[in-house]
Amino acid sequence: MVSRRLAPVQEGEVMETPQSRLVAVSNRLPIKLVGHGVDVKVEPGSGGLVTAMAPVLRNRGGLWIGWSGSTDDSTISGLMAEASRQSGYSLHLVSLTREEVRDYYYGFSNEIVWPLFHDLQTRCNFRPQYWYQYLNVNKKFADVIIQNTRLSDFVWVHDYHLMHVAHFLKDYGLSNRLGFFLHIPFPPMDIFMKLPWREKIIKALLDYDLVGFQTIRDRRHFTMCVQRFVPEARLHGRGGVITIRLPDREVRVGVFPISIDFHNFAEDASSKEVADCAWFLHEKFPDMQIVLGIDRLDYTKGIPERFEAFKTTLLRYPELREKITLVQVVVPSREEVEEYRALKGEIERLVGEINGLLSTSGWIPIHYLYKHLSRRDLLAYYRLAEIALVTPLKDGMNLVAKEYCTCNLEENGVLILSEFAGAASQLHKGAILVNPYDVEGISDAIYTAFHMEKGERARRMRWLREHIRRRDIFWWVNTYLKAALSKDLADFPELEDVSSGA
Ligand code: UDP
Ligand code: G6P
Repeated sequence: MVSRRLAPVQEGEVMETPQSRLVAVSNRLPIKLVGHGVDVKVEPGSGGLVTAMAPVLRNRGGLWIGWSGSTDDSTISGLMAEASRQSGYSLHLVSLTREEVRDYYYGFSNEIVWPLFHDLQTRCNFRPQYWYQYLNVNKKFADVIIQNTRLSDFVWVHDYHLMHVAHFLKDYGLSNRLGFFLHIPFPPMDIFMKLPWREKIIKALLDYDLVGFQTIRDRRHFTMCVQRFVPEARLHGRGGVITIRLPDREVRVGVFPISIDFHNFAEDASSKEVADCAWFLHEKFPDMQIVLGIDRLDYTKGIPERFEAFKTTLLRYPELREKITLVQVVVPSREEVEEYRALKGEIERLVGEINGLLSTSGWIPIHYLYKHLSRRDLLAYYRLAEIALVTPLKDGMNLVAKEYCTCNLEENGVLILSEFAGAASQLHKGAILVNPYDVEGISDAIYTAFHMEKGERARRMRWLREHIRRRDIFWWVNTYLKAALSKDLADFPELEDVSSGA
């Protein structure tokens, strides 16, 4: 391990290092601001991208460039410096105005790309003003990158909000290696074709040196679109990383299924604090198997369909009543988008309806929590649940599935997993796969999981945990960096003693 002195320089700056650094760029910084005015505090952000990337950059003295989640960054520079010191990498803000957030983030990103790329094109709102603001904000990100990077840095852009950043960086003449990773699915060509700006997006993605996807299916969808819009492109190679030859350059395109910090999750889950909390929660559900759902509020997660399936289970298999309970945690997300507000209403209506129909004096079928969980509580829920019900209609990967298995230290849980989650391409051997639209199929899976014997549970869960352990987040980042730079994470060594700021 290389020891280097940390010298806080200015807002969000942690250190000066002669080596090449990892520069992560994502719409959102890995933080969220809680409270207002002088009471504002910084807390860790939610979602798979943050869970996955935070341990990669931790203590490496790199940079993370992104938006704070607010439209008023005037009072938070001190908080940024403190958050940078604590995390061990510099946080650099891209400040966005109210209009930019409305049209680029809520509009283009979350009313166009998010639904379209999850095959839900009827939910799209293809407004041209969203597109112009998306370009404008991608250029803004490129400006901040230009101001904060050195020639030797590797610039790694994440996710669907920022597909055009390399296009602007190339315009500026930046010659650094540029990587992109799409955390969400890439849709089949006939769905992608609905996008009015389809050709421009494909060409913009080809401005990166390496474009990464979660699954082979996503990459296949992308390369088919490339062949449609760039007929002169030639595909070469096979396996995890292939090459697209263009007349003037080459672009690599790879499959890198994202993961989690297995050891960190497993270790934290084994702590006494988590075990005590799991025990305390389990006491509330005596003699019952707990079925767990944890999702951001999102129509892609299939929560109403899951509730219908759980109701169907209790109607088709009445002997499971009072012996099984669904604990559903919904983490607030994108509440300013009308579709998300409507979904929250629908979820609450369904919980009321099912509990009203089936509760008995000592038992409630669905326990519903609408909140952000602390890490201790999150891990305690993972530990106590006998069954995880992960049934997105479509998902890039779904890290909740991997976290559940990792924290199932006793290896006695069952993972029921949607075949349309990216995780299914890796975890299909140990999980029970379901079609999330098939409520009777899911109810059969719940019934099977409920009755699954200890030995079979252990055999499956051991396989799942071993797979996730071997292909953890560090395997993911090393595989990506090898493809991008012929380097791995060890070439961006950890810094010692980051927290002291000494
Ligand atoms: N998560 C969180 N706060 C919570 C509950 C969950 O940050 O209160 C995390 C969870 O641990 C997981 C991520 O949110 O790492 C969800 O990632 P996933 O890939 O399952 O879905 P996404 O939200 O990215 O669509
Ligand atoms: C998914 C996306 C991320 C996003 C996260 C939370 O994981 O892939 O890019 O950050 O959801 O959504 P939000 O809109 O709150 O950033």
